Amino acid sequence: MQARPSLPIGLFDSGMGGLTVLKALATTLPSEHLLYLGDTARLPYGTKGRETIIRYTLAAAGKLVARGVKMLVIACNTATANALPVVQAKFAPLPVLGVVEPGARAAVQASVSGRIVVIGTEATIRSDVYAKAIHALRPDAITSAKACTLFVSMAEEGMMQGRLVEDICRYYLDDIFGAEARTPKPDTMILGCTHFPLLKTALERVVGGDVVVVDPAATVATGVREELIALDLINTEKGEGTSHFMTTDNQERFARTGSLFLGRTLTVEEIELVDL
Ligand code: DGL
Repeated sequence: MQARPSLPIGLFDSGMGGLTVLKALATTLPSEHLLYLGDTARLPYGTKGRETIIRYTLAAAGKLVARGVKMLVIACNTATANALPVVQAKFAPLPVLGVVEPGARAAVQASVSGRIVVIGTEATIRSDVYAKAIHALRPDAITSAKACTLFVSMAEEGMMQGRLVEDICRYYLDDIFGAEARTPKPDTMILGCTHFPLLKTALERVVGGDVVVVDPAATVATGVREELIALDLINTEKGEGTSHFMTTDNQERFARTGSLFLGRTLTVEEIELVDL
């Protein structure tokens, strides 16, 4: 059955990171209704094994599908890297988009030297999906990758800037960007985790002004728009699109930290507590 254009787009992340994608979608597609689910009860996904990530992602996607959505955006690199084909197969013909391919595309466009580093969670880096997506677009690219596990907790904590944040960034990135680095410096770094844009300013200071730091969110939003147009699913109702938020734990915390991710005040009343 063909979905209705007035249905919301469902977005999913393990926590609040996907709000960086929701923000980009709301800017690119202001008339679309957005339904967000952050699985904060099970966060982090990035330190878990593949089977667990697939199980959690299927449950979260099922929740959004049951509410009625016209498209699913997996606004989580970890879930995209480990579970995208499984979710696509399970919910076909519903369109299901991830964040890895758009991120790779944005990085290939930005890079001159072809030396691209991706930073993400352990489970994203282990999957090697970014290297594969980059090489599919630019076979001569030289990719490297680094799991930066603590960045997720820092972002969820609202720790975005300052000396301590930069020291932790250096702890992870010095072997790639520090004075002692043994390989030529990449010219592009992908924020391969939707939590990491919160640390973008600190990361830019640490890697230096000659490195392009790519946040895939804008490219994801452009891809969603193209897909909606292709499927004739653009919402043509009059008026602004709405955003509805669901979390699996602690609405107060979601409101507090979610406000940092969104750049506007989120109230507890806007957030629904759900179980998967
Ligand atoms: N936001 C998720 C991502 O993009 C990671 C957070 C987590 O480890 O759950 O990979």
